[in-house]
Amino acid sequence: MGGSIGGGREADDIDREAARLRHDLVSALVAAGALPDPAWRAAFEEVPRHLFVPRFYDPSGLRIDRHDHPDLWLRGVHEDRALVTHRRGGEAVSSSSQPSLMASMLHDLEVRDGDRVLEIGTGTGWNAALLAHRVGDHRVTSVDLDPELTAAARAHLAAAGRRPRVVTADGSMGWPAEAPYDRIIATCRIDSVPLPWLRQLMVDGVMVAPLGYAVIQLRRTGPDRAEGRFRGGAWFMPLRTGRSRPEAPVVEPDADDPGRPAELTPRAATDPDFRFWADLCEPGVEWRMDPEPGSGPGAVALRGPDGSTARLGRDGMVVEAGPRRLWTEVERLYRVWDERGRPGPERFGVTVEGRRQWLWIDSPDGPGHELGEPVDAVRPG
Ligand SMILES: C[S@@+](CC[C@H](N)C(=O)[O-])C[C@H]1O[C@@H](n2cnc3c(N)ncnc32)[C@H](O)[C@@H]1O
Repeated sequence: MGGSIGGGREADDIDREAARLRHDLVSALVAAGALPDPAWRAAFEEVPRHLFVPRFYDPSGLRIDRHDHPDLWLRGVHEDRALVTHRRGGEAVSSSSQPSLMASMLHDLEVRDGDRVLEIGTGTGWNAALLAHRVGDHRVTSVDLDPELTAAARAHLAAAGRRPRVVTADGSMGWPAEAPYDRIIATCRIDSVPLPWLRQLMVDGVMVAPLGYAVIQLRRTGPDRAEGRFRGGAWFMPLRTGRSRPEAPVVEPDADDPGRPAELTPRAATDPDFRFWADLCEPGVEWRMDPEPGSGPGAVALRGPDGSTARLGRDGMVVEAGPRRLWTEVERLYRVWDERGRPGPERFGVTVEGRRQWLWIDSPDGPGHELGEPVDAVRPG
């Protein structure tokens, strides 16, 4: 990129430079096989991501604004990476997802002309704009929990000449007012399939969402049934429900508890494919790793939503405290995963039948695991 785009350069110059950089990014995505469909290729070429990301935070937390760091900003917006756009209390609360990941999720969504699409997680509005480019503004509804984000997204969309419906609401309930949808896409992480989403999806409709740390493509196969497989690993911010449970007090192990020898080393337990399975089976369990310099994972500490804790020390001894034996659960999950040949996300799938949903390996009849209590509008009792 020649010269600085700051110092009073006109918006037209920025738009021209952005179009050139966008073309380079799209060419790289096409060369990598990430945009096989010409309709999506056109959307990525023509939707100006820079209008949706006026600033972002780099990995060190430095705010890269189009006015303060114009060159870094324009370059960053046209790289194939996720960009954190909003932070609150030191935590990232919204981002613009990585272009190649969005391309693959949109591909898996199998969108057809005329489809009506619901997106959960508007964020910057960039993905809503891609969808609106593909099927038309009036066929896209996008929901975000955060009014500040939806206001900004509407402004970005208007600047890009797009007007999909942007709604401020808790997307865990979907958006019944515009249902049914042919397609539903979520860009925030869930740990079980929200039943309202499936009810709002047409029979034979497709839903694509980050379920745990991988993207699943689910098809609604009947009034009460959906099934699908995972497509590959992905990291997304969690769906925030606003219905936070009271934090359970943390149960610390007795200081003089010598513990027991662990069956698993920290290295084995932190294998990303194992963690994918373990995280889905044990939603809400927080893992903390104290890395040993130069030698991979060292000590591991777990904390469950009910306050249970487990700690695996560098001496190979594990101590557990609280109502759940968290490390014992991890060891049991590891045995199942190991016996099945250590599958990665692509060998897993999910079936939903009525209120039941389970995760399976290789086939719906294979060994499985019930997923957590479904998020639902109607709770018995
Ligand atoms: C990775 S960002 C979405 C990126 C966005 N699709 C884009 O193109 O910029 C995840 C978004 O999910 C939103 N989110 C989290 N919980 C939500 C909920 N319960 N309902 C709706 N949106 C939610 C966050 O506010 C955040 O903006």
